[in-house]
Amino acid sequence: MSKTGTIAVLPGDGIGPEIMASAIKVLDAVSAKCGHTFETKEGLTGGLAYDKFGVHLPEETIKICEASDAILFGAVGGHVSDQESPRWKDAEKNVILGLRKKFNLFANLRPLKVWPGTESFSPLQERFIKGTDVLIVRELIAGLYFGPMRRFEENGEITAEETSRYTWKQIENVVRIAFQAAQKRKKKLTVVDKANVLETSRLWREVARKIQLEFLDVAMDFMFVDNAAQQLVRSPASFDVIATDNMFGDILSDLGGAVVGSLGLVPSASISAKGGEKKFGLYEPAHGSAPDIAGKGIANPTAQILSLAMLLRYTYELDKEAQAIEEAVLAAWKAGKKTKDLAAPGEASLSTDEFTSCVIERLK
Ligand code: NAI
Ligand code: MG
Repeated sequence: MSKTGTIAVLPGDGIGPEIMASAIKVLDAVSAKCGHTFETKEGLTGGLAYDKFGVHLPEETIKICEASDAILFGAVGGHVSDQESPRWKDAEKNVILGLRKKFNLFANLRPLKVWPGTESFSPLQERFIKGTDVLIVRELIAGLYFGPMRRFEENGEITAEETSRYTWKQIENVVRIAFQAAQKRKKKLTVVDKANVLETSRLWREVARKIQLEFLDVAMDFMFVDNAAQQLVRSPASFDVIATDNMFGDILSDLGGAVVGSLGLVPSASISAKGGEKKFGLYEPAHGSAPDIAGKGIANPTAQILSLAMLLRYTYELDKEAQAIEEAVLAAWKAGKKTKDLAAPGEASLSTDEFTSCVIERLK
C-alpha cells in the first residue's frame, strides 16, 4: 500500500548537509520504486540558524517539526576547539537537547551491528566481533545532561557542578522499551550502571527488577559501566540489548561505533511517547558534525542513510523498504565500495556521493 507523509529535514552543520543529501536521494529512490509520496520540509539549525535568527533552534524550525510525522536530523556543532565563540557556544546542547526535551524523546535506540562480511571494518580481530548485534537503549531526557548545572565560587575557587536526577517513571519508561526490544530479539537485557557508587544507579536496578516481572521470558543481568566498556571490546557479541542512562549511553555508543568499524555506521532512533497512528520520532546518526572532514566530500553517509531506514520502519511501519535500504548498503560494501573511514590504509575509497550512487544502484 502506498503511503504519504511529511518529514522534517534538519541537516545542521559540518558534514550534516553532505550526508543528508545522500539520505534524501535514497528516500527519493525508495519512494519512486515503492509508490510512496513523502514531502520533506527543511529547517535551519545550528550555525546557519544562528547566522539568520541569532539562535541555534529557531521557532520556525520547531513549527516544521511539529507539523511533521518525523524528524530526520543530521548533526550540529562547530569544531571541538571552537566551542566558546558565540556562533558555536552551546549549539549541540541548544538544538539536540532542545529537540529531545521539546518532543519528549525519552529513549534512544542505537543498533551496533557487524553485518556478515563486514568484519574487516573493525579495528578488532574477527574472532572478537563476529556476529555482533547489540541494541543500546539510552535514556535521553534526564540524568547528568539535564540536571541543574552551575558555576560558582567557593572558598575563592572557581567551581562547577551538575546533578544527575532520575525519577522512577523516567527509568521505567526506558527500561520497558528495552525489555520490549529484547523480547523481539535474543531475549537478553543487560542494565549498565554504576550501582557500586551512584544512587541513581541503585534506583535503576530497583526499577529494572520490578519491570522484569512483566517480562519473565527475558533474561536480565546488571553490569557496571566500566566493566561494560571493556566487555564491549572483548566480547561485543555476548550482548543483546543494553539499557543505560544518558551519559553512559552516549559514551558506550561511540565506543560501540569504533568496535563495528566507524562512528559513520551507527544510526539512531529517538522515540517519543506521543501517540497517534504514525509514531513520531527523531532519527539521526550517533556521530556529530565532524568539522575535521566537512567540505571534503569524504564523510560516510551510512549512519544517516540507516537512520532514514529506521524512520521508515518505526514511524511509517515500512519494514520492507527499510530492509531494502539496509541490504543495498550491505551489497555496496560486499562489492568493495567503501568510504575513506572504512578503507584500509592505501586502499582506494569512494566519495560520499559515489558511495551513495552505489547504494541507490543496488536498491531492489
Ligand atoms: P564527531 O562525531 O563529529 O567526530 C568524531 C570523529 O569521527 C571525527 O574524527 C570525525 O571525522 C569522525 N566521523 C564522525 N562521523 C563520521 C562520518 N559520518 N564519516 C566519517 N568519519 C566520521 O564528534 P566530535 O569531533 O567530538 O564533535 C564535533 C562536533 O559535533 C562538536 O561541535 C560536537 O558538539 C558535535 N556533536 C553533535 C552531535 C549531534 O548533533 N547529535 C553529537 C556529537 C557531537
Ligand atoms: Mg555522543
